[in-house]
Amino acid sequence: MLRDTNIGIDSIAFSTSRYFLPLSVLAEHRSVDYRKYCDGIGQIAMSVFPPNEDIVTIAVDAAQKAISFIDNLDAIDLVIFATESSFDLSKAAAIYVHNFLKLKPSCTAFDIKQACYSLTAAIKMARCFVQSNPGSKVLVIGSDIVKYSPNSSGEPTQGGAAVAAVISENPRIIAFEPYSGVHTTDIADFWRPSAAKEAMFDGRLSAHNYLESLKFALDEYLQKSKLALADLDYVCFHSPFNKMATKAARQFFPEKDVLDASIYNAKIGNSCSASLYISLISLLDNCSENLGGKRIGLYSYGSGSVAEYFSGIVCDKYREMSLALKNQELLDSRIEISFDEYEQFCANVIPASDTKCSYQNVGQVFLSEMIDGYRMYQLKEQINKSSVDNCFNMLNIA
Ligand code: CAA
Repeated sequence: MLRDTNIGIDSIAFSTSRYFLPLSVLAEHRSVDYRKYCDGIGQIAMSVFPPNEDIVTIAVDAAQKAISFIDNLDAIDLVIFATESSFDLSKAAAIYVHNFLKLKPSCTAFDIKQACYSLTAAIKMARCFVQSNPGSKVLVIGSDIVKYSPNSSGEPTQGGAAVAAVISENPRIIAFEPYSGVHTTDIADFWRPSAAKEAMFDGRLSAHNYLESLKFALDEYLQKSKLALADLDYVCFHSPFNKMATKAARQFFPEKDVLDASIYNAKIGNSCSASLYISLISLLDNCSENLGGKRIGLYSYGSGSVAEYFSGIVCDKYREMSLALKNQELLDSRIEISFDEYEQFCANVIPASDTKCSYQNVGQVFLSEMIDGYRMYQLKEQINKSSVDNCFNMLNIA
């Protein structure tokens, strides 16, 4: 059990693609009744990523927003990047983020994996780190782009986003409570072999295990905390599709409304590691009640599987840390794509060389080319310079 009582999320932000496909368009082209998508699975749109946007570019965008609240970046001693859609089996995506944020060289950076649970694992590790290194801050990032085979039952639940959060003492958004319930079980409900671009899954088994694991994790949380369900003011869930969260809420928390927490996920789709924390941001941004002092129950589930139930108390001044307007603007300014464009984006042909940035990226960094399988990123502000110079500048080997 963690002993911290005043460690938590000091700032938090998300990013997603500039482009989206309405599920009404997908339904039409897949000859499916749209009500199955909007009512049956609870989704209205999904973020779709252009070839020069990836888990690093959206992570940098989210992280730049999260650290904009931090006065002393040198206090960040650790970056943990949580993802299940990594493109490199060796080099950590965290290192690219560390570079673009210009964090100090003595700050450690690495990746962590356990399906959609991984950002919770990163936060758990960050809490321990802050506890044993008073004054330190940890930047945690969950960034995933979720792809299933075209025409599969998972297709309408694709999506993607990055969430970045600074974990510190005396947090300004939410302070975690020291108890949690965990349920780990070896099950083949969702996996992605290293050579595969798309995830494989057993949809029914995964939905069943999501709820089974919630039962065990929640029971353990309640036993350890000696709290009752009524002590939880609001609940947020990992949301592979909104209906999953609604079903979990109905079964275990019939009194709780999860509408405010599901607004963003309904438009973004599944963002795996980021998904639970997009629910939390959605609740904080959209709930009209002042949440200061309220206890939020959080359910994290990662197929394979590890689940955890835990909670936090919202800090009194959380609204001063709000990016609600920016978040709304990000979602409202997204560009709707046609079905043909969706199919082109799905093919995800990485540009041979796209130094002019042919797509509207969400942040300052975009993927400009691949050299010997190595991903070259570029800052938009450097577009006028030659591509090779920029790549070498990024790599600090000019
Ligand atoms: N009007 C209204 N509702 C309709 C409808 C219509 N015309 N047609 C069907 N529906 C309803 C169904 O009744 C069903 O509702 P209930 O679940 O309440 O019965 C719902 O729409 C879905 O219908 P199906 O079960 O027939 O849909 P499906 O077989 O196409 O699969 C799915 C749906 C299992 C969610 C599929 O999208 C999937 O496998 N997704 C990927 C796996 C996944 O997300 N699993 C979740 C748990 S695992 C996890 O959390 C990790 C992770 O992030 C992946």
